[in-house]
Amino acid sequence: MPIVAANWKMNPATYDEYRTLMQAMRSRLNGIAGVERVVCPPFVWLFPAARDLDGTDIALGAQNVHWEEKGAFTGEVSPLMLKGTCRYVIVGHSERRHIFGESDEMVNRRLKGAVSHGLIPIFCVGETLAERDANDTEAVLTRQVRMGLEGIAPDPEIVIAYEPVWAIGTGRAATAATAVEAVQLIRRELAALWDADTAQAVRVQYGGSVNPDNIAEFVQEPDIDGALVGGASLNVDSFVAIVEQTARIRRGQA
Ligand code: PGA
Repeated sequence: MPIVAANWKMNPATYDEYRTLMQAMRSRLNGIAGVERVVCPPFVWLFPAARDLDGTDIALGAQNVHWEEKGAFTGEVSPLMLKGTCRYVIVGHSERRHIFGESDEMVNRRLKGAVSHGLIPIFCVGETLAERDANDTEAVLTRQVRMGLEGIAPDPEIVIAYEPVWAIGTGRAATAATAVEAVQLIRRELAALWDADTAQAVRVQYGGSVNPDNIAEFVQEPDIDGALVGGASLNVDSFVAIVEQTARIRRGQA
């Protein structure tokens, strides 16, 4: 089943805005067949979100996770704290890597922390514009996948998001052909690291300026199993349109 996830990032800024957005998402997203729907609010809204989504088939995700269960790690949130509240957790988002300096080693530790506590990672990889221009895309994706998943057993539940950094929040999405090429490269790496069956089973999303006008291009590709949506996930109509198109296109292909 395809998976479409809303990455709200550091939004909305007030509890009232959170409530309004979540209530609209809840009523519009609940029960849409043929596509898994995930909402990833900031940490502070996770507990109200768990209550707000109770009784729906919408999954909850966090936006990051530490590797230790507890301790002196100011500002971090542990997998034990998220377990039971969230099903998914985004790890290795490019904003974490590039604004907050998270390394591949750190991403690997976070992924291990998540899987060892039963949280399903949405593991983000993607090249910067400079890396693409220097023809380093393949090397970067290979390194991010290998180092990120180092020491992690084959796991068909892990979700990977291919998010070219130059496409995030820029309004300049990748073309479907570019995304497919990257996704196939990621699957080749997964096959080398794990095995061919798991590499096929893992769902790989595209992320970066996804909107209702371009989602069809991506999910028409059998290799692309959904999307990780930032900006457009803060607008209920846009996000629901993305989810519904994904469901319709994939049902048509089934
Ligand atoms: P965007 O963000 O949809 O606003 O480009 C995607 C993401 O960062 O996950």
